[in-house]
Amino acid sequence: MEYWRISPSAILRAVTSTIAIVGGTGAEGRGLARRFVQAGRTVIVGSRQAERARAVAGEINDELTTSLVSGAENAEAARPADVVVLTIPFEGMAEAVRPLAAALEGKSVVSAVVPVEFVGGVPRLLHVAEGSAAQRLQALLPESRVIGAFHHLGSHTLADLEQPVAADVLVCGDDVAAKREVMALAGELPGVRAIDAGLLESAGYIEAFTVVLLRINRRYRAHAGLRITRLPESALAGDEA
Ligand SMILES: NC(=O)c1ccc[n+]([C@@H]2O[C@H](COP(=O)([O-])OP(=O)(O)OC[C@H]3O[C@@H](n4cnc5c(N)ncnc54)[C@H](OP(=O)(O)O)[C@@H]3O)[C@@H](O)[C@H]2O)c1
Repeated sequence: MEYWRISPSAILRAVTSTIAIVGGTGAEGRGLARRFVQAGRTVIVGSRQAERARAVAGEINDELTTSLVSGAENAEAARPADVVVLTIPFEGMAEAVRPLAAALEGKSVVSAVVPVEFVGGVPRLLHVAEGSAAQRLQALLPESRVIGAFHHLGSHTLADLEQPVAADVLVCGDDVAAKREVMALAGELPGVRAIDAGLLESAGYIEAFTVVLLRINRRYRAHAGLRITRLPESALAGDEA
């Protein structure tokens, strides 16, 4: 099966909802943008510089032979979007999102941010007073519905469009409707199962485990992902925790 092809049903989905990616010019944001487009979503790549965002959008459109991707400065990208995904480094997060608060009001805002530093090449989790990057984001954006997701999908895996993503995505959040929306979105990626990982406070454990995954990948020179085993498939179709 050629996973890079955009199916007719996916093209239909594109007209119904738009995803903005704040920090979409980086490795993770580009990877998610490609995969969302592959799933038929319309994507707006965000950047601190509109020109850079437009250039990345053009590259993705050329690569996927589509016009589903546009680029804009972060706030302009977020404003018309239904769901906004944040893929910027933790260090710049607070400063970057404050000016976006109005554009993000009432929206589902997905944090894939991992508070990590590399000491001599070894990843370490940074302490976050609120418990996690996602919880800090919720504190910064009280009028938005913050959801944690996509932490365990590495940019290398996302970039290889010839292969399905083939991994589980742990999704956590306090707003049930927003969590369902993001789970549905994650489930559109090829080979991805979205798993309800509970309330937003789970983000601390999810972010921390990403550091373990990074260490495993460093040890084995791999791009491993995550699979949760022995969950009943019937339950996966249904309720949140
Ligand atoms: N890379 C992965 O495999 C991976 C996997 C899972 C989760 N994540 C998480 O996803 C996030 C992005 O990862 P990445 O590897 O794509 O990072 P990155 O390339 O270093 O940064 C992504 C984008 O964020 C913007 N940015 C950088 N510094 C910023 C700052 N101080 N303030 C505002 N915007 C800034 C830049 O866009 P502009 O310069 O165009 O504004 C950059 O292209 C991180 O939080 C990371 O923990 C990454």
